[in-house]
Amino acid sequence: MATSKFEKKEQLYEGKAKVLFATDDPDYVVQYFKDDATAFDGEKKGTINNKGVVNNTVSAVIFKYLEGEGIKTHFVEQISERESITKHLEIIPVEVIVRNITAGSICRRLGIKEGIVLKQPILEYCYKDDDLGDPFICESIIYAFEYATPEEMKYIGDTALKINDLLSKFFGERGITLVDYKLEFGRFKGEVLLADEITPDGCRLWEKGTNEKLDKDRFRQDLGGIEEAYEKVLNKVME
Ligand code: TYD
Repeated sequence: MATSKFEKKEQLYEGKAKVLFATDDPDYVVQYFKDDATAFDGEKKGTINNKGVVNNTVSAVIFKYLEGEGIKTHFVEQISERESITKHLEIIPVEVIVRNITAGSICRRLGIKEGIVLKQPILEYCYKDDDLGDPFICESIIYAFEYATPEEMKYIGDTALKINDLLSKFFGERGITLVDYKLEFGRFKGEVLLADEITPDGCRLWEKGTNEKLDKDRFRQDLGGIEEAYEKVLNKVME
């Protein structure tokens, strides 16, 4: 790993899975990935050994791949096992869920079974607020409360679908089905960039052939073998 020109400074924020630190440059931050895991809006808490190391590397590989394919992201460089430098964004408080196959909340909401392959991807939006449990919202709510502008949402929607094609291909070539996942975007110097992380914490990933779950559902559903599943994703992503 190359030595970084950025110097790590004070802690800015601690989230559920990551800690953000300032650097000597206000435009850049350090993202530190923890082993802490939560589910069901923080009701279930635990630790997944080595998750921070796996997720930092998985996310770095995926963000570099997306950048190479023309997607603008916040990622700058991985500087240690658990740390990466990213651009210091103003996060847009809209979580974008992309679904290719039914699982999780859409099954509960619509009373349908898991594993239905969708005719076209579904894009859903949630308001990013842990205390409210990230409620489901629609575009008119986003505009009425000015969470994002129509121009930003057009860009976010188009980009999320492009990312979906790229990630489905990336995981597919590595023997993994991309079921669903969450994306976040932020503003930086007049541009909208892909932010946060893309890891087995925020994606549903099923092994092709066996349909074995290789993601946080193993933690949510107490399926066991969570560390091994995350390691498997890391190894496949590094192929
Ligand atoms: P979803 O099925 O809406 O919710 P749940 O995980 O409660 O069943 O989640 C769809 C995908 O998005 C799933 O891979 C988990 C991810 N996600 C997050 O990472 N964070 C979130 O706050 C939400 C709502 C979803």
